[in-house]
Amino acid sequence: MLKKSFIALLSITMVIILAGCQNAAGQSNTEQLKLAHNQTLDHPVHLSLVEFGRLVEEKSDGAITVKIYPNGQLGSEREVIELTQTGAVDVAKVSASALEGFASDYSVFSLPYVFEDYETFQKVMNNEKVTNELYYQTEDIGFIGLTYYNAGERNLYTKDREVHDVSDMRGLKVRVQPSQTSVQMIEYLGGIPTAMAYGEVYTALQSGVIDAAENNETALVGNNHGEVAKYYMYTGHQIVPDMVIMNAKRFNQFSDEQQAIIEEAAKESTLYHEEVWAESIKRQTEIAKNEMGVNFIEVDKTPFINAVQPLHEQYARNEETRDIYHLIQEAIQSE
Ligand code: GCU
Repeated sequence: MLKKSFIALLSITMVIILAGCQNAAGQSNTEQLKLAHNQTLDHPVHLSLVEFGRLVEEKSDGAITVKIYPNGQLGSEREVIELTQTGAVDVAKVSASALEGFASDYSVFSLPYVFEDYETFQKVMNNEKVTNELYYQTEDIGFIGLTYYNAGERNLYTKDREVHDVSDMRGLKVRVQPSQTSVQMIEYLGGIPTAMAYGEVYTALQSGVIDAAENNETALVGNNHGEVAKYYMYTGHQIVPDMVIMNAKRFNQFSDEQQAIIEEAAKESTLYHEEVWAESIKRQTEIAKNEMGVNFIEVDKTPFINAVQPLHEQYARNEETRDIYHLIQEAIQSE
């Protein structure tokens, strides 16, 4: 008798579970989000996005899953942003620099030395006035921001030239992200900027199309740039956040509860990212130094900071950027 009721109970439970996974037409109710990014499988960004997927699945009891397309498989950051606009991709992790071409507010995040240090950067990125302004303003062009990831300080690295001062930049062909702000930054520093997608940098360095690039330390090891670039100068000229964005229509199709799950999972993955980031930078710096023979060089940032001051004045005045520029300054000053 007991056994019979147990079996009956089990069958009812199964029916309930199955009903949860299937709609009236008998199709699966599981929603899969297609997520694209341009980093390798051992990069902290990938690990954090895997965590994002795990959290979304756990919090939604399996109703929403995330499938990740890493390594730029679906295209350059620019292409992936366009795919996110159309909905061919649901979620993407791209640099704020790449978003500059889509929404001018993002350009201020590529402004050199806009954040004095990492603490200042974090203060701004966790300020709701800033993020509310930033995350939802692109809804009418097809996507919203879900969260940001720390992408470290960007430093200059060259094939064969030590750079200690702005004067050493003269004539240096430097790859920058496809961002007008970054192009102007190198011009003010006296170098010759070339904007190109991340995936092309290794070959461009190797073939001599460029003499230098700039990024956080993971580029040296994870993307093998340390095989060709042997001088890494701590210029710390930019702290550009990585942004996790989502197709707005797809997001709005979810229930309020599911939207909250996606946003929560994204924010929690940012905390997870903080944990894996520091460790990864430490490890990759050691590998670059000891196994790839990259020289790490401290530089006095003052002349670099001074050289780009006109850019700050320009962004503080310019109609398109002044609001966000001042909002960031306010966030920096806030208690
Ligand atoms: C960082 C950033 C990437 C970006 C890259 C670049 O690594 O995390 O999203 O593509 O810089 O320099 O293009």
